[in-house]
Amino acid sequence: MDPIRNPYAPGAGQRPPELAGRDEQLRAFDVVLERVARGRPERSLVLTGLRGVGKTVLLNALRSAAVRKGWGTGKLEARPDQSLRRPLSSALHQAVRELGHPNPDEVDHVLGVIRSFAEREAGADAKLKDKWSPGIATPAVRGRADSGDIEIDLVELLSDVGGLAADKGLGVAVFIDEMQDLGPADVSALCAACHELSQSGLPVIVVGAGLPHLPAVLSASKSYSERLFSYQRIDRLSREAADRALVAPAAEEDAAYDDAALAAMYDATGGYPYFIQAYGKSVWDLAPRSPISADDVAVAAPEAERELAVGFFGSRYERATPGERDYLRAMADVDRGTDPVGAVNTADVAQVLGKKPQSLSPARDSLLKKGLIYSGERGRIAFTVPHFGRYLRTQG
Ligand SMILES: Nc1ncnc2c1ncn2[C@@H]1O[C@H](COP(=O)(O)OP(=O)(O)O)[C@@H](O)[C@H]1O
Ligand SMILES: [Mg+2]
Repeated sequence: MDPIRNPYAPGAGQRPPELAGRDEQLRAFDVVLERVARGRPERSLVLTGLRGVGKTVLLNALRSAAVRKGWGTGKLEARPDQSLRRPLSSALHQAVRELGHPNPDEVDHVLGVIRSFAEREAGADAKLKDKWSPGIATPAVRGRADSGDIEIDLVELLSDVGGLAADKGLGVAVFIDEMQDLGPADVSALCAACHELSQSGLPVIVVGAGLPHLPAVLSASKSYSERLFSYQRIDRLSREAADRALVAPAAEEDAAYDDAALAAMYDATGGYPYFIQAYGKSVWDLAPRSPISADDVAVAAPEAERELAVGFFGSRYERATPGERDYLRAMADVDRGTDPVGAVNTADVAQVLGKKPQSLSPARDSLLKKGLIYSGERGRIAFTVPHFGRYLRTQG
């Protein structure tokens, strides 16, 4: 069919033509926004799930919902070994601009605090040229959010930004993607700041997204984090939602699937959003005409798998060193599709490799840090990428 009209959108963070199966989360978030704006107690939100389930896309959709209500919003992507100060300053700068507060003096004050928070990164007595600020023209406000203690500074910073939003009867939402990559000091400070802010009723919320072990990261940092965040597990789509993700965009282009085609698609994709987009794209391009049939799906499957091997699996696999790749392959060997989430015992992996578990810790830790595997419970690990074991087993 006409590739120019192909509606599907495989790719990290690519907005899907139809955001299927997330109505519940969107509805719940609208309630959160209303409650927070009215100073009601509400927990911050954290989305967790494997790679390719649609966390980034949902995070962006939640952000749009906040923007539609007139909120100030900012977004950042956490990176290992990067401190929160700079990306958070940029995000809050943006949020303050979006908020459009009518009093320029108060806005300038808050921007000055954001600047002082950002500039503290370089150290208390850094030279001007080493200081970085997120393009804010107003001078830094000395003595606010610049103590160097990230916890104190975050509370001061977010209180001031929240005050601005409260004046307008609105709120500020900070969206943090790949939240598991925040450093321990930043995680701990962020939890403490959220705790403090929720007690003072200021309209500021953090909406995070990350890998399945993010709740464990947060509770290891602060024991009260379980009461602080409402965790939403983002998972593969139900059959019904997966069908909608395929059918609705096709209908917009006057095309359709027959029933057997939809069943074959769900079989191939397992309802994982990334796979749905990748298969949808290949099948559309290769099918001779609408309605798309199960035969068309079978013909296009190798092409879809090739795309996934490059764009989804291969790009991740390439980040592993040879030793780490051995480790991943051993995991795939142990797993063989037995566990529903593909979790395996680290001891079994060591046995497959014929090594002592301790000698494999560096490879395992590095894979954890690269976000290729995660550990939901002690002594067990799993791939962060769905179907990764299957992919490795077909690589020979
Ligand atoms: N609810 C959904 N319905 C249909 N497609 C989706 C949905 N959520 C995500 N996608 C698609 O899945 C892919 C991965 O989404 P992304 O948000 O990058 O996942 P994650 O951040 O969890 O790794 C993208 O191509 C996106 O268009
Ligand atoms: Mg993502």
